[in-house]
Amino acid sequence: MEKIGLIYGSDTGITEEISSAILDQWTACEIEMLEVTDVDNSDFERFDKLILGLSTWYDGDLQSDWETYFEDEFTNIDFTGKTVALFGLGDQYGYDDFFVDGIGILAKTILKNGGKVIGKWSCEDYDFATSKAQIEGEDYFYGLALDEDNEPEKTTERLEKWLQQIEKEFGF
Ligand SMILES: Cc1cc2nc3c(=O)[nH]c(=O)nc-3n(C[C@H](O)[C@H](O)[C@H](O)COP(=O)(O)O)c2cc1C
Repeated sequence: MEKIGLIYGSDTGITEEISSAILDQWTACEIEMLEVTDVDNSDFERFDKLILGLSTWYDGDLQSDWETYFEDEFTNIDFTGKTVALFGLGDQYGYDDFFVDGIGILAKTILKNGGKVIGKWSCEDYDFATSKAQIEGEDYFYGLALDEDNEPEKTTERLEKWLQQIEKEFGF
């Protein structure tokens, strides 16, 4: 049976909580959740479908574990034939020039390395100035943006809708 890889990195545990919620809610197929600190590129080879989760820190930087992995290994992954959905945690008011930048940093590398990114998400319901996660020329993020700092009450609905969306886009 097909298995999705859910790989996340989290500094204070928020992205980890969301990842656990995805694990609980996902019914379309088996799913394996891994923390990015425990992953190497052979883990990426095991999955054709992936969900990647991360937060953004310090004015547009990747979450610290993702940052280490990104520089050492992620940029070398051949994503040909792989389909990837991304979600990111951020703070649209405190960091409105860098809101969920991490989503964009990963998405652009995946696309450059031959992968397909699914799960784009409307920017309409957010209040930010600039974001690397925004697709150029579109009012969409490359993936799901969640803001537990300011809008925790919106997370459940956003996540539920997005999971339905990516289930279809993954082809289940
Ligand atoms: C010092 C600091 C820097 C941050 N920088 C950013 C940022 O540049 N962009 C953003 O969207 N959120 C930023 N955030 C918000 C975090 O991404 C947010 O709190 C997130 O939920 C943390 O998730 P985690 O516990 O999984 O790491 C920052 C938060 C702190 C405390």
